[in-house]
Amino acid sequence: MNHQWTPVAQASEIADGEAIEVVVGEQILAIFRSDGQWFAMDGMCAHQGGPIAQGKVADGCVTCPWHGWQYDLATGIQTINRQPLMQTFPIREVDGTIEVELEK
Ligand code: FES
Repeated sequence: MNHQWTPVAQASEIADGEAIEVVVGEQILAIFRSDGQWFAMDGMCAHQGGPIAQGKVADGCVTCPWHGWQYDLATGIQTINRQPLMQTFPIREVDGTIEVELEK
């Protein structure tokens, strides 16, 4: 499987503590900026598909706006059952562009 760094957003679009949802091909991703770091995660909550990019971000976690499941931004681990329910992706900033490493 090939991996490729794919531009998904401009860093200036996302304030610290916020997130946006992006669609890349058929994949929905949530892109987070938290405490100066970038995180990329599945855009749809593992519970019932809630829009995770609209969740509240605090203490390195995001809380789904639908029923409150929480996930660690870095690992996708659900904070109650400790299972890695959400896929996360490598992410980087290059000259103001946010890139995510995705399978092609
Ligand atoms: S859909 Fe996210 S907690 Fe239910």
